[in-house]
Amino acid sequence: MCGIAGVVLPENNKTKNARNVLLDILARQEYRGYDSAGVAVVEDKQVRRAAVKGRVENLKSKIKKQNARDAKTGIAHTRWATHGTPSEKNAHPICAADNKAAIVHNGIIENHAKLRAELEARGVTFRTGTDSEVIAHLFAARARGGGDMLTAMRAAAKRLRGAFAVAAVCAGRGEIACARQGSPLLIGEGGGVFYVSSDAPALAAKAARVLYLEDGDCALIKEEKVKVIAADGKSAKRKWQRISANAQEANRGGHKHFMKKEIAEQPQAAAAAMERFTRADSLPLSEFGKGAAEMLRACRSVNIVACGTSYHAAMIARHWIETLAQTPCRAEIASEYRYRDDPQARGGLTIAVSQSGETADTLAAAAAAQNNGAKLMAIVNETQSTLAHNARFVLPMRAGLEIGVASTKAFTAQLTALFLLALALAKAKKKIPRGDEHKMLASLRRLPALLRKSLRAEDEMRRWARGIANARGVLFVGRRAHYPLALEGALKLKEISYLHAEGCAAGELKHGTLALVDDKMPVVALTSGGALSSKTESNIAEIAARGGKLHILAGGALPPNMPGKVAHIPDDGGEYLSPLVLAPPLQLLAYHTALIKGADIDKPRNLAKSVTVE
Ligand code: M6R
Repeated sequence: MCGIAGVVLPENNKTKNARNVLLDILARQEYRGYDSAGVAVVEDKQVRRAAVKGRVENLKSKIKKQNARDAKTGIAHTRWATHGTPSEKNAHPICAADNKAAIVHNGIIENHAKLRAELEARGVTFRTGTDSEVIAHLFAARARGGGDMLTAMRAAAKRLRGAFAVAAVCAGRGEIACARQGSPLLIGEGGGVFYVSSDAPALAAKAARVLYLEDGDCALIKEEKVKVIAADGKSAKRKWQRISANAQEANRGGHKHFMKKEIAEQPQAAAAAMERFTRADSLPLSEFGKGAAEMLRACRSVNIVACGTSYHAAMIARHWIETLAQTPCRAEIASEYRYRDDPQARGGLTIAVSQSGETADTLAAAAAAQNNGAKLMAIVNETQSTLAHNARFVLPMRAGLEIGVASTKAFTAQLTALFLLALALAKAKKKIPRGDEHKMLASLRRLPALLRKSLRAEDEMRRWARGIANARGVLFVGRRAHYPLALEGALKLKEISYLHAEGCAAGELKHGTLALVDDKMPVVALTSGGALSSKTESNIAEIAARGGKLHILAGGALPPNMPGKVAHIPDDGGEYLSPLVLAPPLQLLAYHTALIKGADIDKPRNLAKSVTVE
């Protein structure tokens, strides 16, 4: 959600222009938000800003036309609007003090109205509709006229409530001041050039090492040095680390879209997620972290909090935990859970599932569960994230960088990690015989091969897509663990093709949703030949009787002469792994439908990759 970029080029660096460097970093961050973009560079007498509504591409063209002179220091931003419409005026950087200073901000300033009133009373004129502008004025008030930029940033940050990552520049100064509270921000260095960014992958091609700021930190990049002051006002040392993201990962690798590349990467992602756990016939509990075996043994209940696709993974995992580990389990929507009282949390384990580890609602739900007395485990893809930092136990999903806004390989990697956790809980609680543990691990090892086979359904999904692209809506139905998968199939379709879609528990159809079914309504039914497949088949018959255009995605054997179109997905991983194996065809169905509709697949409207605001 919004991307921040910053650069300080050393004086002797003759070849590079700060604007080009910033545009390059922004282009790699655009998946975070893309409704407006801007750059501000430092000149002697002022900060020069260029901004556009829309994409980084538009910004590039605008800057090219301006024929601007070289600059060594600057900041830039790509925005996903919260306060203030997407427009050139509201785009960041936001300038203050007659263009003597500028800031970029990610997050939300909750007390912006109060601060604005206070600043206006002092004669400050506001030019944008954003919450962020208060930061620009607070910072500029101290930094203008040669004031120390780090002191100015600290003074501004102290006044702010909410979440923020901020970077700021001042006229005539080759320095960047930053602050971080609840929104990720890091500093990178490569060949004497210093960078600021809201995510490491955007710097992968430029920086050799990165330093993650912690909550409450303010920092200054000046004369090829970084100075960090922690929340307690003391100077702090933050460790430089080698940049973990592989620059290659940030490329589309010959695919038309990141989403398509990431769908295809699922066999490797699942293999990476399970690698440390499936080498032997016995699940190594020690791999879940120090003290995990004891914690799992003592755990009375599990509560999983997550949003969107991660929530659907949580709902599927609930079935595994209840069935395999015989342990009560709930899956909760994080944005709801954070405002609930939860008397059941104490003594239990809360698992927060998040690809980014930065989703504001999931962070808040995890904190609420901890306050209610739960132990916290994070299942995250981004292991440097706030969620990973806050959790007692961390289970990395190791899916590799996911750039497409529509989550795909992270979903199957989350499910793989959650299945391992369900098995671990069952083992720690002695609910699973050794023979069954061996069998489960053996079928898990086959998962990458099963996913490869399931990806072969692409041609079929392309054909299905042609049939549904012009429908007024699509219904997805499934039972037990296929119900959350139906929700996920519907979410994927909605978010990238803008076609209305709904997921429904198969048994719930007759309680209302069946009214939608007629001969124009495509229905995607999920089934796997498991214990309740005959029940789902009855629901399929109900849909057929109303003329619904059936598309059956079948993981197991089906009775002959099923109505509608049938895609058989090889599913010898058994009922447990069936949701994993049926996920890629649903993702491909959404992808091809969006392609037919000409939608912007990697950057769907109104969305952003990580949602760091409430
Ligand atoms: O990073 P997270 O897993 O916490 O993100 C949660 C949701 O915002 C995310 O899964 C969202 O629903 C995706 N766009 C779905 O494709």
